[in-house]
Amino acid sequence: LSEAYRDHPLSLHHVIPLDFNTIPTVPDSHLWPPSDDDFPSDDRLSIPVVDLMDPDAVKLIGDACETWGVFHLTGHGIPLSLLEHVEVEGRQLFSLPAEQKLKALRSPGGATGYGVAQISPFFPKYMWHEGFTIMGSPLEQAIQLWPDDHKRFCDVMDDYQKQMKMLAEKVISLIMRSLEIHEEMIRIWPEPAGTALQLNSYPSCPDPNRVMGLAPHTDSLLLTILHQSATTTGLQIFKEEVGWVLVYPIHGALVVNVGDLLHILSNARFPSVLHRAIVSQSKHRLSVAYFYGPPPDFNVTPLVKCLNSDQMTGFLSVTVKEYISIKAKNLEKALSLIRI
Ligand code: SIN
Ligand code: FE2
Repeated sequence: LSEAYRDHPLSLHHVIPLDFNTIPTVPDSHLWPPSDDDFPSDDRLSIPVVDLMDPDAVKLIGDACETWGVFHLTGHGIPLSLLEHVEVEGRQLFSLPAEQKLKALRSPGGATGYGVAQISPFFPKYMWHEGFTIMGSPLEQAIQLWPDDHKRFCDVMDDYQKQMKMLAEKVISLIMRSLEIHEEMIRIWPEPAGTALQLNSYPSCPDPNRVMGLAPHTDSLLLTILHQSATTTGLQIFKEEVGWVLVYPIHGALVVNVGDLLHILSNARFPSVLHRAIVSQSKHRLSVAYFYGPPPDFNVTPLVKCLNSDQMTGFLSVTVKEYISIKAKNLEKALSLIRI
């Protein structure tokens, strides 16, 4: 997967995040024009909650993917203590002095490390965000951050990635079953899966309405599993005919969303949900996104079960690697470029 990201625009000129700890006002580079897409959203509306232990989980997940493309997942079996540890480690990382974090800067063409949001090159303004991407082991960068004391960070991140992988596979298998794909067909891609972990930090901001935490985007792979800190809101998803809907954190629940590749596999039955993050005036928000997809050479093409009665497929067949490279050049239009 890291190889597939090599021609990402950021690889050419990686940019250093602002030192949010020392900045008194929002600089022009981070001031966003007021957005006109902000029709009022209905605060009573919320994404579905699915309990993985529910005997009807297959149907509930299938319905949630189809109507929303995103849902809260409870009963997932990930220990609360692990969710807490991953958040503590993330907060510790982002609270390091800027000079220290810059020692672990994501290098051009590199996969793991500290830096601005990966989607930054597509927007004229910077986001009120700093991130730390992990693909595989974070050891090399963690040594830069904490020369004598990196073991706990690495152990927590490794454990978290392992548990997330198992959970992602479980959720995918339920989604496949909701599409009536037989058990033996569920594992349609070989190992190794393409996975990445993204720690997102949204420092508190003196003028939160004029900045953007993370600009609107869809996720590229099959599924994203997000842990968001319970202390502040920030994630919003876009629902057609409604507008931006805030995803209130539920303590201990994870947010699962459909990505572009699952949208393609499902022949557009499941929407790849557009989402963004806003920031708070008083609270530092942290989120941890786990991305799961097939290996880079896997051919993504709509599943036969998802074709209409006319057997028409809605998308050109692309490998994961090809799709990521299309998306790296066209953040918003990637899906329409391969639509038939
Ligand atoms: C993401 O889109 O990767 C993160 C969104 C969030 O911080 O809630
Ligand atoms: Fe995302």
